[in-house]
Amino acid sequence: MSSVSQTAGKITTHVLQRMKNNHEKIAMLTAYDYSMARLLEMAGMEVVLVGDSAANVMAGHKTTLPITLDQMIYHAQSVVRAVERALVVVDLPFGTYQGNSKEALHSAVRIMKESGADAVKLEGGKEVVESIDRILTAGIPVMGHLGLMPQSINKFGTYTVRAIEEEEANRLMEDALLLEQIGCFSVVLEKIPAALAAKVTKAAKIPIIGIGAGHHVDGQVLVLHDMLGITQQFSPRFLRRYHNLSAEITSALEKYISDVKAVTFPNDSEQY
Ligand code: KIV
Repeated sequence: MSSVSQTAGKITTHVLQRMKNNHEKIAMLTAYDYSMARLLEMAGMEVVLVGDSAANVMAGHKTTLPITLDQMIYHAQSVVRAVERALVVVDLPFGTYQGNSKEALHSAVRIMKESGADAVKLEGGKEVVESIDRILTAGIPVMGHLGLMPQSINKFGTYTVRAIEEEEANRLMEDALLLEQIGCFSVVLEKIPAALAAKVTKAAKIPIIGIGAGHHVDGQVLVLHDMLGITQQFSPRFLRRYHNLSAEITSALEKYISDVKAVTFPNDSEQY
């Protein structure tokens, strides 16, 4: 069977749907700047998420709440310049879509017009349906996000696993199917039991992407700086570190400092 991803040109929401139908896993990671996004593109990533986790890893905020629409657009513009093939999805930041569908549409249109991204993502189920509906009617593809929703941290009070209790699990299943029904092209499930994620993935026709949701989903997403080991303080069970870049970068920086002090940099061949 030929691979949908390998034979596809530009990755679109339709390609992702065909990947799910063909039982091909979808690879997605975050990026916030041109240079990193270029590396994701060269590696063959299918989806690049300009996540509002930029608030944490780029700006050093404790939560994702402070990042603004203008800041998200700046990150999205940098990523879009680097990417030709991958689908670029941009998070709608906190306070730009909840409770006011007109504002939600305005925010999504600004992201699409000013950055050239392919789709937007937002957190929530039933409570944000009106906003999603309005964005969709403008022809903007929407990715949902359920389970642990970092923008609601002040409501939940903790970043622990969500939907362990039956009532919350049932609500999550209903929300996922509702998002599919109103036209979302995909849903991210964050930090929920693997068995529940498997059930949702089986019940939903659209691609379900997991982060801390086990492997019975249609694809995986991680925060780039976490999986590369650039960040060190964040260590949830679901995070696999593929590198220890923080140690490598620090060691290169220390070597540079010592070369400058010892006047071994620059040498004769490194000057004019
Ligand atoms: O902002 C982000 O990085 C995200 C992922 C964790 C899915 O929403």
